[in-house]
Amino acid sequence: MMEIIFATSNANKLREVRSLLPDDIMVLSLKEINFKDEIEETKSTIEGNSLLKAKTIFDIYKKPVLAEDTGLEVFALNGEPGVRTARYSGDGANAEKNMNLLLKNLKDESDRSAQFKTVATFISANGGIHTFEGIIRGVITSDKMGEGGFGYDPIFKPAGFSKVFADMADQQKNIISHRGIAITKFIRFLKEEMTEG
Ligand code: IMP
Repeated sequence: MMEIIFATSNANKLREVRSLLPDDIMVLSLKEINFKDEIEETKSTIEGNSLLKAKTIFDIYKKPVLAEDTGLEVFALNGEPGVRTARYSGDGANAEKNMNLLLKNLKDESDRSAQFKTVATFISANGGIHTFEGIIRGVITSDKMGEGGFGYDPIFKPAGFSKVFADMADQQKNIISHRGIAITKFIRFLKEEMTEG
């Protein structure tokens, strides 16, 4: 059994990552290790913020840490909201306000292509840093749909699918999503490490 701290306070990310990882990897959330501070995302890239979260926790606990940062990049908006995805609508930002602003900014825009990008960072017990990226392309719909998921899921329809993420079961989203891809790469890495060492 391997214990990993997942440096997130987002219950949705925790649920998705837990359901992806095999049973012999035990994931502890920040809540479970009693870490209550907010880790401020002060870096200018998704990679930078992912590393920042992992390092902040590793430096305190000196245990294997997984962190991830995710951004939504909209092509017609030159990659915005990108690193600002969580706080797109400014002070008091939440999923509804963020989606409303994005739909407004894309009003009358014919190119609605976008991608979700996740960068996962793993710091192993000996301090080695490893990163895993997951990207999924899709389009921003013109209206919100579906009841599931979180964040921008009601307005993101992955390429090749007729449903938005919010209309998919967790399991189906996990197979194809940015986070699913990044975490699957991480699992493959861990398996290789275990068979080598
Ligand atoms: P962060 O990675 O915690 O900074 O989150 C970035 C932003 O992206 C937040 O507004 C999340 O709600 C949103 N987000 C992260 N992952 C997903 C996802 O899988 N679907 C929809 N929105 C997401």
